[in-house]
Parts: sequence; C-alpha cells; structure tokens
Amino acid sequence: MKFVLLGPPGAGKGTQAEKLAKKYGIPHIATGDILRQSVKDRTKSGMLAKSYMDKGELVPDQILIGIIRDRLSNPDCSKGFILDGFPRTVTQADALSSILRRLNQKLNGMINLEVPQEKVIARLSSRRVCRSCGTNYHIEFNPPKEEGKCDKCDGQLYQRDDDKEESIQNRLKVYQRQTEPLIKYYKKEGLLIPVDGAKDISAVFEDLCTIVEGVKK
Ligand code: AP5
Ligand code: MG
Ligand code: ZN
Repeated sequence: MKFVLLGPPGAGKGTQAEKLAKKYGIPHIATGDILRQSVKDRTKSGMLAKSYMDKGELVPDQILIGIIRDRLSNPDCSKGFILDGFPRTVTQADALSSILRRLNQKLNGMINLEVPQEKVIARLSSRRVCRSCGTNYHIEFNPPKEEGKCDKCDGQLYQRDDDKEESIQNRLKVYQRQTEPLIKYYKKEGLLIPVDGAKDISAVFEDLCTIVEGVKK
C-alpha cells in the first residue's frame, strides 16, 4: 500500500503516519523529519535547509526530490510506504510520478486530512516533539505520561523552532499558496481521498485504517 498524506501544518500527518507505519509494517517517510535530522547532523543540505525551515518557507524542490528519489529506491519501500510532507509543490508531485514510474510502482491514494485553521493553530502551538526519536505529543490532546519526557525512549521533549506564532502563520500561508493546489492535481488523477482530520486522534486513525484496508495488498 502506497499512500501520500496531505494536509496543512498541524493536520496530524506525522501522528497518523507513524501509527499506520507501525500497524502495517511499512516505512513512514517524513521529509520534515529527514530535514530536521540533517540539521542536527550539520550536513551541507541540513545547513541550507535550516534557514528556510525556521522561517516556515519551503526548502528548494531539488533538495527534496533528491532525498525522495534515494529513499524510495530503497528495497524496504517496494511493498509500501506512507509519505508525509512530500509532495508539497506541483514540481514535487510531477517528480514523484516520474520516480514511481521508473520504479514500476503506483500510488494507491492521496489522503487529504481536512482540518480547519483554528484547530491546526491550537495543535501546533502546544505540540512537543521528542529530541531523540521524533515522536509528536500535544500538551493537552496527546500528553506524555511524564511531563517533558518521551513515553517511548525517555528522550527530552522540545518545541520545534517553527512552532512559534510567526512561523506558524507563515507556514499556513505557504501551504495555501504552494501545497493546496495539489488537491486539484490529485483529484484530476483520481487519487484524492478526503478525510475529516478534525476528529480525535483515534477516530481519524480508524477512518484511515478502513481506507488502507480497502486496498491492502
Ligand atoms: P514538516 O515537518 O512536514 O511540517 P508541517 O507540514 O508544517 O507539518 P507538521 O509536522 O507541523 O504537522 P503534522 O501534520 O505532521 O501534524 P502532527 O501530527 O505533528 O515540515 C517542516 C518544514 O520542513 C517545512 O516548513 C519546510 O521548510 C520543510 N519541508 C518539509 N517537507 C518539505 C517539502 N516536501 N518541500 C519543501 N520543504 C519541505 O500534529 C500536530 C499536533 O497536533 C501534535 O501536537 C499532535 O499531538 C496533535 N494532534 C495530531 N492529531 C490530532 C487530533 N486528531 N486531535 C488533536 N490533536 C492532534
Ligand atoms: Mg509532521
Ligand atoms: Zn522518543
């Protein structure tokens, strides 16, 4: 099963993709997580990406396309994957189609998590992320068992640099301008699957499992 999760910042892409990957045993490929790891490792592309990410701007397409081309060519993706945060522009969507064509693979669907703006702002401003394993928490909606500590690995929780008010506003604008056009793009391809992402985490997950099971192979 090969799916893309689309949705505004804070829609729950990372939260749901992680659960799906675990349940179905397929890789969760999150470009934001990959970029944050490169920043942490101080690689050349990480240093370049950081300046864009902190402002809430998109990192240049060619960097992301290179990352995804390498990642999808890995044999662990041949049975399926969940893409989270890619594609985010029409150029990236075109590149994804040609990468998959070359690998003789096809997407099963593009799941669009629909969440109203006031909800995503509330979700992002109180999000906390594990510094070691990247798991997402929310102070109110999905709190860790012990404050400031990851349930899974005991890692320290922190607030992402781009979860500050100014950066959130910019990310939402960037999403509307550059990523929202992908909804039409995938509708035209017959791949769009809209999902109500405003429900609570477990209810959204149930809906996603129903969709995924429908195409399981
Ligand atoms: P990225 O890391 O992908 O950030 P994003 O798209 O802004 O999405 P988020 O991770 O903020 O939200 P999410 O949908 O994953 O929500 P989450 O599950 O955490 O990208 C960061 C940056 O990297 C970009 O700005 C850009 O610079 C760069 N980048 C990445 N990919 C790129 C690309 N392809 N091209 C160019 N640049 C790229 O949930 C949010 C919060 O809500 C959490 O606290 C969670 O606990 C809570 N929550 C989740 N679901 C629910 C629910 N149903 N009810 C209540 N709370 C919930
Ligand atoms: Mg995310
Ligand atoms: Zn952790």
